[in-house]
Amino acid sequence: MELERVDEGIWVADGPVAIDLVVVPYRTRMTVVRLADGRLWVASPVPTSLAGLNALAALGPVGHLVAPTPRHRWRLESWHALFPDAALWACATGPFTLGDKLLPATVLGEVPPPAWSGELDQAVYRGVGFEETTFLHRASGTLLVEDVLQSHERSGHRLADALVRVGGIRTPGGVPRDIRAISRRGARAWVERVLAWDFDRLVMAHGPVIEGGAKAYVERAFARALR
Ligand SMILES: [Fe+2]
Repeated sequence: MELERVDEGIWVADGPVAIDLVVVPYRTRMTVVRLADGRLWVASPVPTSLAGLNALAALGPVGHLVAPTPRHRWRLESWHALFPDAALWACATGPFTLGDKLLPATVLGEVPPPAWSGELDQAVYRGVGFEETTFLHRASGTLLVEDVLQSHERSGHRLADALVRVGGIRTPGGVPRDIRAISRRGARAWVERVLAWDFDRLVMAHGPVIEGGAKAYVERAFARALR
């Protein structure tokens, strides 16, 4: 894991190529935000090296571990062992939740908690049995998306590439077919809320960091998904 500065007070780090969606091996990214109180907010933590942990520790104490999507819920467990004092936050659990022996966590809602309401706004993508929370880092104008919007390069692995194509998430990206199928109404409500926010950059957990024009990118992807 190598921390990469995105802007003032916000970093990303790529995890190893993971298998968290049945068979598709793909890269997954965590996001770190430094809150006004100096503590770190870490979303979708990835497996990391000692050097990576040292780099993180240099930024500040870890205050919050967040699993914004049911498929990243299991990743909180090992980081909780590393940072037992950090508060745990997660989306509601449901049939899409990966992992057993899940630690209790505070459920994320539409209203940001006082712990980060000064820096981050949040919106829930609500479907039947599926919830994902999207965040806006206001100071840097960055939208943080986990699974609801993805963009995968061709990997050369035939089965994986076929699944990516069928799933509708090949570069330049889109809303995965299974998530799209869950709730069109939920998707519409989410996109309306998110497009009202002020952002120009997009960080996807599974895709490149889009620098500039992110709002048009999100608008296009959801226009295709909701056609
Ligand atoms: Fe994911």
